Amino acid sequence: MAPAIALKTLSLFSHIFAGALRLVQTITCRNKTGEDHSWQKPSPEDRRSPCPMLNALANHGYLPRDGKDVSLARLVSGLQESINLAPDATIFAGLIGLKASTTGSAFTLHLDDLAKHGVIEHDGSLSRHDVHFPPPADNKTFAPEIWATVVPLLNEGETISIETAARARRARIAAAREADPKFDMAKADLRASAIETCLYLRVFGEGTEGRARWEWVRVLFEQERLPFEEGFKRSDKMLTISDMLTLEEKVNAVPGEDSEESE
Ligand code: HEM
Repeated sequence: MAPAIALKTLSLFSHIFAGALRLVQTITCRNKTGEDHSWQKPSPEDRRSPCPMLNALANHGYLPRDGKDVSLARLVSGLQESINLAPDATIFAGLIGLKASTTGSAFTLHLDDLAKHGVIEHDGSLSRHDVHFPPPADNKTFAPEIWATVVPLLNEGETISIETAARARRARIAAAREADPKFDMAKADLRASAIETCLYLRVFGEGTEGRARWEWVRVLFEQERLPFEEGFKRSDKMLTISDMLTLEEKVNAVPGEDSEESE
């Protein structure tokens, strides 16, 4: 199937599934109040992913704290309750993530399954090592030494502009390309990486204008915690796929040495 058709089909499926899920949630009146969403450090047995946001949500109990057997429905409700991400956006990413599942069920995943390289996980991450570099490879755990190279690029004051975020991402990809003899980012990886930048800009910024609060972004990456204490509030407005696509266009439009073009 041509990639554009596959994307449209996946998007349509996500939309239908999200509608059905919303209906089930309404009918069953699932009331989530009373759940404990305090931040708790994961135990060594808990599973965590290469995604700072999913890890933060597990640390807050919006996703199973043990990171095991996470269903698509739980991803949808967890991301909606915590940051108001639209169900179809979660389903879109979640369906891709499920391809890495090792749970024995096609409908659930363990968070660490998401470290499977080439499904969503890719080289050139802002805060993780590449899959093969440096050995022994750990492409899943927050790597302070990688993040330390990115911090000066993002830290331009109280907020991060789209331009700064785009340049930091490109610089990190260029550095990984230079350092890692087995560096490999296919087009889909580059797109995933751009979307990840859009996600943090949208969740911690102002609509599709960027201006993500630096302190909040830092807390997410460094502590895998939602920055409620620092003033972050769940957006009243749903964060949509369309927001991400608008941001993606803006991120890709930032001029400069472009790693995508060199593919
Ligand atoms: C179902 C939803 C989601 C799935 C399945 C998912 C999965 C992933 C995976 C597998 C990665 C690793 C990519 C890499 O190699 O760097 C990743 C990275 C990332 N994700 Fe998520 N994610 C989801 C939602 C979100 C949301 C809502 C945010 C909002 C802030 C987010 C922010 C990020 C960021 C910033 C990175 C880049 C980390 C880095 O470069 O070091 N993700 N995600």
